[in-house]
Amino acid sequence: MSGAEFDRHAAGYDGGLDHPIKRLLGNSADEFIAVKARWLLRHEPALRTTDAKGSGVRLLDYGCGAGDLMRVLTQLGARGSFTGCDVSGGMLAEVGKRWPRHLGPPPALARQDGARTPFADGRFDVATVSAVLHHVPVAERPAVYAELGRVLKPGGRLYVFEHNPRNRLVRHVIARTPIDENAILLDAREVQDGLLGSGRYELETDYLMFTPPGIAWLRFVDRALAWLPLGAQYVVAARKPA
Ligand SMILES: C[S@@+](CC[C@H](N)C(=O)[O-])C[C@H]1O[C@@H](n2cnc3c(N)ncnc32)[C@H](O)[C@@H]1O
Repeated sequence: MSGAEFDRHAAGYDGGLDHPIKRLLGNSADEFIAVKARWLLRHEPALRTTDAKGSGVRLLDYGCGAGDLMRVLTQLGARGSFTGCDVSGGMLAEVGKRWPRHLGPPPALARQDGARTPFADGRFDVATVSAVLHHVPVAERPAVYAELGRVLKPGGRLYVFEHNPRNRLVRHVIARTPIDENAILLDAREVQDGLLGSGRYELETDYLMFTPPGIAWLRFVDRALAWLPLGAQYVVAARKPA
């Protein structure tokens, strides 16, 4: 796994918004990221609290890219100690550039060596993996699942967000987006099976983005349809045994 492929896209990375259909559905990459961030804020209460020392939940964003998920989470009120890692040094270099000063210090960052991260076992309460796995070659995905299980503490929570290949519009857009030229999409079942192949997890899956992310008054529709495997995205939520 090399980060060179993503170094090329780092400076102008906008979440694939260069595709006209995606641009029709939302004005900015942040609107798409915010759907995931709002879901996390609803389902992971630890993101809304801080501990006695004021540091709060320890979250790792694996394959963090330019840090957009951690940034949007913070802008929407999430609190905690955030760390990002990625195989691409170019992407990691973008995190600080995009991080507004008024949000405080940017997240801690680390470069991955393939699937491997430099963190101690059980270091994180929560790990997020957003739009990463479809870039990881199929044979290397088990190593990613194993690494995520290693760095999560017992009772820790893992959230895997992915494009849903059951949605035809998603397949159409991905096939025509430059950053996705080597993407191999995977459905929620594949993520569930991959996780269960690497550890004992309690799993739940929600489907997201049935309606354009920029239209706030339609959000109730998305929440009502979260069970239907046709949304443009899905999230597999996994809890590691305590
Ligand atoms: C489409 S971007 C998503 C970035 C970010 N997670 C987000 O949601 O905005 C995919 C990211 O996955 C990273 N990536 C690709 N293969 C990876 C791997 N094997 N391990 C970790 N990150 C990887 C790339 O460097 C890139 O930053």
